[in-house]
Amino acid sequence: MKKTTLLGGLTPARFLRDYWHKKPLLIRQALPGFTPLMSREALFGMAARDDIESRLITHFKQQWHMENGPIGTLPSIRKSDWTLLVQGVNLHDDAADALLRQFRFIPDARLDDLMISYATDGGGVGPHFDSYDVFLLQAHGRRRWRIGAQKDLSLLDDMPLKILRNFQPQQEFVLEPGDMLYLPPHYAHDGTAIGECMTYSIGFRAPSYQELGEAFLQFMADSIDLPGRYADSGLAAGKHPAEIGPAMLSQVAAQLDKVRFTQDDITIFLGEYLSEPKAHVFFDPPASPLTPARFAQAGGKHGVKLSRKTQMLYRGKHVFINGESFAIDRADKGLLTTLADMRRLDGSAVSQASKDVTEALYNWYRDGWIDLD
Ligand code: SIN
Ligand code: CO
Repeated sequence: MKKTTLLGGLTPARFLRDYWHKKPLLIRQALPGFTPLMSREALFGMAARDDIESRLITHFKQQWHMENGPIGTLPSIRKSDWTLLVQGVNLHDDAADALLRQFRFIPDARLDDLMISYATDGGGVGPHFDSYDVFLLQAHGRRRWRIGAQKDLSLLDDMPLKILRNFQPQQEFVLEPGDMLYLPPHYAHDGTAIGECMTYSIGFRAPSYQELGEAFLQFMADSIDLPGRYADSGLAAGKHPAEIGPAMLSQVAAQLDKVRFTQDDITIFLGEYLSEPKAHVFFDPPASPLTPARFAQAGGKHGVKLSRKTQMLYRGKHVFINGESFAIDRADKGLLTTLADMRRLDGSAVSQASKDVTEALYNWYRDGWIDLD
């Protein structure tokens, strides 16, 4: 892949080899001449909605305070030391979606969202660390970042947000619009606004193994098949009625030992799990949908694209979209994997789709998962 200003002249391969998960990278003018994708007022409007996650963090009189959204009333923009964080902006805005997708050299299964923070002078979330990698793109105004590779990640007690007990910064940078800072997981950092500023965080997801394990067992509960019922035709009279007998135990153990999972079970689980929309995501189905015939005609002319909110993944003969999985024919594979990778299909591809795929596309259109292009 080619070198890009986004990664400071590095190819994605080189960035991944030398920096990803390893060490910070400051990229001056990653996006030269960058201007904010939305106004402060538009962001404030998003924070007032109940289908968008947001947080207001204030540090007035040296006291940390956090309020979860929806946030109708914000402090005055003339007052210093507060910040507003709005999560998942990419789900609601085309330009934010396009910005996030510039980071698709990292797989969709790992890419999380675009968060926008607005801060007045001195505002920030305090010294902390995150469990995930992050790219911090300065969008408007200036922000001073202090960062450090400290091992002591203990936090202050009784705080409404994560604040490091003993922050020891080793480097300091002032970021201007278009500059970007990459930080690996668990790297201590503190960003403070110098005057009014806006910072965009490109965040990643990394599910914990515990979370995956619990979700996998739930998934398996729906798919195990153990016919029959406990029986003890050879039961002998005993002296200890409260005891669970060894014969009962071994019979049940033999049955439970039949619960097995295959590589295919894991694939289907993982695809469904990683493509599942977050709890507050609601799709926007078309208000007056076209008939299947009109949809096929319009799709065949203009093509279709995945909705901003749609997560579509694939592995082998399985395609996953928004938490559902489909086993696909070899003949349909090329078209569906193109849709997942390119997030769109042109008109000629749509018109060549099989009957099954045409039907699936129509259902996804009715659900608001795909749109006509
Ligand atoms: C911010 O944009 O103020 C917070 C981003 C972060 O430190 O993770
Ligand atoms: Co952070």
